[in-house]
Amino acid sequence: MIQSIRGTKDILPTEINKWHYIEDIFHRVSNLFGYNELRTPIFEKTEVFSRSIGETSDIVNKEMYTFTDKGGESITLRPEMTAALVRSVIQHQLAEQSSILRLWYFGPFFRYERPQKGRLRQFHQYGAECLGSPYPEADAEVIILADLILKTCGIYDYDLLINTLGTNQTRIRYRKALVEYFQKFKNDLSEDSKFRLETNPLRILDSKDTGDLEIIKNSPNILDYLDEESLNHFSKVQDYLKYNNIRFTITSQLVRGLDYYCHTVFEFRSKKLGAQDSFGGGGRYDGLFEQLGGKKTPAVGFAMGVERLILILDNLFKQTKDSCDYYIACSNPEFIKVGIGIQKKLIENNFSTRIDLMRRSLKAQLREANKYNAKYVIIIGDLEFKNQKFILKDMQNGTQKEISFDDIEFLVK
Ligand code: HAM
Repeated sequence: MIQSIRGTKDILPTEINKWHYIEDIFHRVSNLFGYNELRTPIFEKTEVFSRSIGETSDIVNKEMYTFTDKGGESITLRPEMTAALVRSVIQHQLAEQSSILRLWYFGPFFRYERPQKGRLRQFHQYGAECLGSPYPEADAEVIILADLILKTCGIYDYDLLINTLGTNQTRIRYRKALVEYFQKFKNDLSEDSKFRLETNPLRILDSKDTGDLEIIKNSPNILDYLDEESLNHFSKVQDYLKYNNIRFTITSQLVRGLDYYCHTVFEFRSKKLGAQDSFGGGGRYDGLFEQLGGKKTPAVGFAMGVERLILILDNLFKQTKDSCDYYIACSNPEFIKVGIGIQKKLIENNFSTRIDLMRRSLKAQLREANKYNAKYVIIIGDLEFKNQKFILKDMQNGTQKEISFDDIEFLVK
């Protein structure tokens, strides 16, 4: 038997109702906020991601599905959307058509990570990006949108962590302080963190290594290094969130795993998820457009992992029963032609209708009608067929009446 690839999942018909439920909310709430959907290809030139997410990030270093295509080009299955979206917006000059561009997306993404609960190699993200505004109100807008998406889904019990990475100046000063501090513990750091110390010291704060965590505990705090602009921006974001009753915890070690962030960064976490507790995250990325060859365009956004959202939501869903408006049962395969005609007519009029395709006995067909929770059963029996009629049985009250084939319009009125 050929199995699916490790870390990928089939979404089976028994689970699809959860996906439809949640996708409908993404669509509806995003549109209410004025966000339009953007769909981009599943793969991009590798540089789209390597130039933006950061050469030293785990995603680029260890997790990308990168291959050389038959034309010799390096191609990568998208590990995230923000860089691909910025590539698309630059290419089609979308940001030049209006001062603010609001976009949302939903689709599959790929990271070569060790699979575990809530961590897949092909997973799905929903996300939204607000392009064009340098102001904290845009940061607040995307967080309020994310919060409303969660609440509309029925998710209230989660933690929102926020931090600021400030301006470039702030990060330069903070980076210097971090290097000075971590140099003192260089020999005790994990191999990954030793490498990060040379390449991207901020990333050490993201380490999960227990030895590193001890050292990180007393490391310099970015909030002590904020310049005036960084402070103002961050306190305004907090203001807007408080005013909207959105609870958050300031977490000064939150740096996120992607290099393009500045100012606000945030993450949504849930205790229901276990080790992979972060189910959404985002932040501001004012430098990314220029990095990818576009005009300076301030921007902020977030993405949520849909598999993780569904894990949180799981107990909200009951298994939905298959059901239909009509079931058509024929006592003889000769009558199926008429049955298919009635089915087509009913479906054209928006009634869900099933018909037996296995030439089973009438008794077996009626059992199946029950299994489908049919509201009505149409029975074309021998005698009825001879009289060009069928029986219409109301399954809720058990009453039945005979209807002539010529009166089929009666059903769809
Ligand atoms: P991210 O934090 O890398 O951010 O991913 C966002 C969410 O995708 C995570 O919180 C998680 O729920 C889900 N996710 C990531 N990797 C996996 C995986 N292997 N299996 C299952 N779920 C996963 C970004 O991707 C940024 N582009 C977010 C952003 C948008 N920042 C600004 N705009």
